[in-house]
Amino acid sequence: MLSDDFKVLVHNAVGDTALADAEGLEALRVAFLGKSGHVTLQLKSLGGMDPEARKAAGAEINTLKTLITDAIIARRAALDEAALAARLSAERIDVTQPPRPEPVGAIHPLSRTMEEIAAIFGAMGFAIKDGPDIENDWNNFSALNIPAHHPARAMMDTFYLNANANARPAVLRTHTSPVQIRTMLNEQPPIRIIVPGRTFRADHDATHSPMFHQCEGLVIGEGITLGHLKGCLIDFLRAFFDNPALPVRFRASYFPFTEPSMEVDIGWNRKTGEIGGGTDWLEILGSGMVHPNVLANCGIDPRKYQGFAFGVGLERITMLKHGIADLRLFYESDVRWLRHYGFSPLSPASLHEGI
Ligand code: DAH
Repeated sequence: MLSDDFKVLVHNAVGDTALADAEGLEALRVAFLGKSGHVTLQLKSLGGMDPEARKAAGAEINTLKTLITDAIIARRAALDEAALAARLSAERIDVTQPPRPEPVGAIHPLSRTMEEIAAIFGAMGFAIKDGPDIENDWNNFSALNIPAHHPARAMMDTFYLNANANARPAVLRTHTSPVQIRTMLNEQPPIRIIVPGRTFRADHDATHSPMFHQCEGLVIGEGITLGHLKGCLIDFLRAFFDNPALPVRFRASYFPFTEPSMEVDIGWNRKTGEIGGGTDWLEILGSGMVHPNVLANCGIDPRKYQGFAFGVGLERITMLKHGIADLRLFYESDVRWLRHYGFSPLSPASLHEGI
């Protein structure tokens, strides 16, 4: 039999663990479970007992041993957890940087327009392409079915870069259309791309700048029709001007690289400038079915493939959308203008916003 003293000792010690710190706990462990601890001594005393008594006492010692061992383990875990919590809260750092109180810059309205166009056409499955500002004469004109001495070349007030008669003439691209050529030479249909980018013409007034921006669009595939062109551009214009009922009109026109060709107009009120209201029409972009000669120039069989293309001036649609009167201020880098017309870098264009 075990002495009551030992039982009391264990029960008291178990109570003590609740209060012990790490050192006190270690002292308790040594006092009970160490080489000459109370439990160890009790176990040693079993040797002198007769088998029956040893069995009973052994079981009881083991129960008490488990009791004290578990109490020590539980207390140690609680102490460790408390120590970790204290350390975590002592070492806590704020990794978020507060926003600067006064943002200096903003997203330029033109960049914003490009983001919006990318979001709208991106949702229709278009990829974005770009091409160089300096083009050769063939990509900019000839391949687009604009032969030498064609009046369209004079119309575009081209900047020529290379006066050397032996070299292939280089130009600052007068439109984004040469990227149609570059793409069709390198890719097989189906093709579905937009090309936002810089363009250049010798022209300067309140609505023209020698450097400006366009966005080209090109779709080539089997069985592409005027219906696809119309649906695509109506959807684009209604999304961009944020008006699902925006009136859109297609008017017969002429471009050398499309047949038939169409100007696209939107409804507006000439007096108030309100887009979508009134009974007046405003020309917004050029478009048409890609001319068979252009397809053939790029090695695409016009009997098998058809397509449509369009080109839109980005300054113009940006000015209309945001009521900006003078084009020249777009390029003056005046931060006051940018603060007024610019957009927060924290609100990128997205279709969820319902552009
Ligand atoms: N490249 C023309 C321009 O700068 C715009 C244009 C019209 C592009 C019709 C097209 C198109 O792709 O089909 O005036």
